[in-house]
Amino acid sequence: MPDDGPVIIGVSRSTEKIREIIRKVADVDLNVLISGESGVGKELVARSLHYYSSRKKRPFIKVNCAALPGELIETELFGYEKGAFTGADKQRMGKFEAAADGSIFLDEIGEIPQSLQAKLLQVLQDQKFPRIGGHREIEARARVIAATNRNLEAEILSGNFREDLYFRINTISIVVPPLRERPEDVEPLVHYFLEHLSKKHRLPKPDLSPRLMKLLQTYHWPGNVRELENYLKRLLVMGESKEIEAELESGGLNRNPAPEDDPSPSPEAVIEEAAQEALADNHNPREEKQFPSLKEVRDRAVQRVERALIKQVLEETNWNRREAAKILKISYRALLYKLKDMDLSPR
Ligand SMILES: Nc1ncnc2c1ncn2[C@@H]1O[C@H](COP(=O)(O)OP(=O)(O)OP(=O)(O)O)[C@@H](O)[C@H]1O
Ligand SMILES: [Mg+2]
Repeated sequence: MPDDGPVIIGVSRSTEKIREIIRKVADVDLNVLISGESGVGKELVARSLHYYSSRKKRPFIKVNCAALPGELIETELFGYEKGAFTGADKQRMGKFEAAADGSIFLDEIGEIPQSLQAKLLQVLQDQKFPRIGGHREIEARARVIAATNRNLEAEILSGNFREDLYFRINTISIVVPPLRERPEDVEPLVHYFLEHLSKKHRLPKPDLSPRLMKLLQTYHWPGNVRELENYLKRLLVMGESKEIEAELESGGLNRNPAPEDDPSPSPEAVIEEAAQEALADNHNPREEKQFPSLKEVRDRAVQRVERALIKQVLEETNWNRREAAKILKISYRALLYKLKDMDLSPR
């Protein structure tokens, strides 16, 4: 592969296999679904598929489906005509249209709401769609690459993801395993990142002790390659090799522990509480105990966990919303929407 495009580093069997699949399918117009934990390199795979295809010179358009509430994903994908809804004061092109003959990368596809799943399926079948509020059909010629860190098969079983859409997007499946399952990749990744980062930041490449390398190879990497990259940035810029060794040994990064007097509830605690609350709300005094639906409990729990996390991040960033949005990996607009929705404001 030429070296100006994205490079997928690694010597493990699974990484080799992924490079091989990319070579084979990059130029075939089949939909690809990339799955794997957060930080394993799904986006890198998506960009490689685009880069090594004849669509390379065409747009690569990414849509982060997790960053936007449902209604906004729809307008984001398909665009709208002037007057389609209040506030639509001029026509806007959607991402499908912008991607044209290129590739459209639907990141976190597991997050799109049911109603939109149906619409997306329709568009993929018909290969055309009107802008919202419009009549003229626009061709959907972009190659669709989707990614998810959810187990979509499980989501289908629990009724959250449409099976027919799954089959549409999953013509080719690329599963990127977690870094802990391919420790052979750690060493080449370390060398690659140190080389790359030291050039980029014009800093000398640090020497790595054998002990640190060993620790990097045996650590469980919950944040996968992204986490490894962050450690190496820190090593390069701060030179904290002893601190890093100690941290890896004690089970990982914990640079911002919650202060003792203000413990943030764990996600588990929040979920438990939401479930209890839904149960209590649903208790009908005239009948026997009534259980809330699973969906209701889930929605509540998700809302509460999100709220707690957003609040925490905002407090840490002194309510710098742009920075908070970056940390939360959602768009600024989506954050503002959530703040309004959750009625969150600085004290
Ligand atoms: N095999 C690899 N070789 C080189 N760089 C890699 C590799 N895997 C991941 N990276 C780098 O690690 C970082 C995280 O990868 P990426 O954003 O593709 O992960 P992701 O699976 O999309 O994560 P998320 O689910 O959080 O969106 C990026 O900087 C990416 O370039
Ligand atoms: Mg990603």
